[in-house]
Amino acid sequence: MCGIVAYVGSKDAAPILLEGLQRLEYRGYDSAGLAIVNKTLRTRKVKGRVADLAAAVPARFKGGVGIGHTRWATHGVPSDVNAHPHVDGAERVAVVHNGIIENADELRAKLTVDGATFTSETDSEVLAHLIARTVKDTDSLEEAVRTALKRVVGTYGIAVLDAERPGEVVVARNGSPIVLGIGEKEMFAASDVAALVRYTRQVVHLEDGELATIKADGFHTFTMDATETAKEPLTVDWDAGHYDTGGYEHYLLKEISEQPETVARTLRGRVDDRFHIAHLGGLNLTPHETRAFRRVKIIGCGSAYYSGQIGAQLVEELARVPADAEPASEFRYRNPVVEHDTLYVAISQSGETYDTLAAVQELKRKGGRVLGIVNTVGSAIARECDGGIYLHAGPEVSVASTKAFTSTAVAFALLALHFGRVHDLSPADGRRICEGLRRLPAQIEEILAKDDEIAGLARKYADHAGMMFIGRVRGYPVAREGAQKLKEISYVHAEAYPASELKHGPLALIGPDMPTVAIVPDDELLDKNLTTLGEIRARGGRVLMVGHRAADPRLADDCVVVPKNETELDPILLTIPLQLLAYHAAVALERDVDKPRNLAKSVTVE
Ligand code: AGP
Repeated sequence: MCGIVAYVGSKDAAPILLEGLQRLEYRGYDSAGLAIVNKTLRTRKVKGRVADLAAAVPARFKGGVGIGHTRWATHGVPSDVNAHPHVDGAERVAVVHNGIIENADELRAKLTVDGATFTSETDSEVLAHLIARTVKDTDSLEEAVRTALKRVVGTYGIAVLDAERPGEVVVARNGSPIVLGIGEKEMFAASDVAALVRYTRQVVHLEDGELATIKADGFHTFTMDATETAKEPLTVDWDAGHYDTGGYEHYLLKEISEQPETVARTLRGRVDDRFHIAHLGGLNLTPHETRAFRRVKIIGCGSAYYSGQIGAQLVEELARVPADAEPASEFRYRNPVVEHDTLYVAISQSGETYDTLAAVQELKRKGGRVLGIVNTVGSAIARECDGGIYLHAGPEVSVASTKAFTSTAVAFALLALHFGRVHDLSPADGRRICEGLRRLPAQIEEILAKDDEIAGLARKYADHAGMMFIGRVRGYPVAREGAQKLKEISYVHAEAYPASELKHGPLALIGPDMPTVAIVPDDELLDKNLTTLGEIRARGGRVLMVGHRAADPRLADDCVVVPKNETELDPILLTIPLQLLAYHAAVALERDVDKPRNLAKSVTVE
């Protein structure tokens, strides 16, 4: 949510900042801005995309130090004035900010009494005024930033520029990531490594409560009470190519198409064909501790939560341990009862989602044991958990999650296999699951080969005002994720229901104008599902069936046949055609596929 980039060096800052902002645009894209120092502070900010900002930056916008921002509005509408950077009245200090300042109204009132004039509706502007007040009285931007932040309640990742100290930028982190990039006689900072990998892969992650000063010749980090901290640079695994569209029209299509490889990466080195178990070294649990858990509770938001529902089903089926999933955004607010014999599992692609992080922190405060299933290595949620499984799915740029969703379900299959084999899953069943897992990448390829067929179906169904998605038991989270993908990127209203619940209410919606996407795997519930299709057809409803065999034309108008795996693993494959369906519907409706309206990739605010 929002992106920050900062540069100090001998090159021109503006092109570097614009390139970095473009890489971060998936995190927020309603307005963007830059500030550089060239004797005086110069800013440019516009409502719109980074391309609009680039067009507004004059050729003479030169200087070797600068900060930039791409915004996802929280306080105040998207507009030129509300865009960051924000500056103080004397135009000495410029600030870019991710997060929320909770006591902004109170600070604004005090600063106004002191003579400050505010130009924007944002909470962030108070930071520029606060820092500017202190920097006049000290000879240190670091000290001014520390002093100002002590008065702030809320979350922030910030970068601060002082016109009188043109060789440095001060950054700080509390609940919103900041990472430093180490170059040759130049330094970078950003809210995400995506903005840095074109220039360097040597990075340093700041912790909450930590600040840093970056200068062309290096950096130093310190805490809010000015104690120096020691940091070891890390090498980022992914290069700039991983953040490109790679010749695809959209990141989303690239990420859907990558899934045979990303699933293989999630599985690599983790499937043991000798003992039919999963190797999950990062769990930090002995078999004895694993057996002692009597429940598994899974938390995550949005698609991460739906993948958790698939995970809960897998854990119950393979390990016969009660498991359920709940939105982290709800869990954290209901003062949850935390049990010592429950294993908590937090899911997050970004590792930054604020609601999920806050839920993990609440669990830790109450002594809960929390595992993370996370894609982003070293992210806040990964660091907060007691252990976990990294997805290794690579950077996911498109706002709609696809490959991370699939890899999370695969990681849950591994976790459930591990739990199962510690409990009562037989070696024969363990072997069956191991073999099924190994078949997944090739079967995903088979589904991707149906791209043209699914694109045709998407065009056929895309012009409906709404669509119903149904599934039973294992198929229900698949239906929920299918509906989520469709509404998120095509803006077509999509509602997901358990097929078993249809006749308890939503059947009233069914008719020729409300087609149903029905998830119908070849499992023990097949007959029940076919009966439901009959009920829909009897009400004039159109049906697009996604299952393992060609549909009886009396029960479905159209059908996507998906390769069959082991019954427990089928939901992983059944989701893939729904990703393609949503993608092609969004393309047919000419939506902004990778940056859907009102959304951002990482929701780092409450
Ligand atoms: C998925 O398509 C959505 N963009 C959204 O629901 C997402 O899954 C959710 O915000 C959680 O994100 P996370 O996995 O990064 O925590």
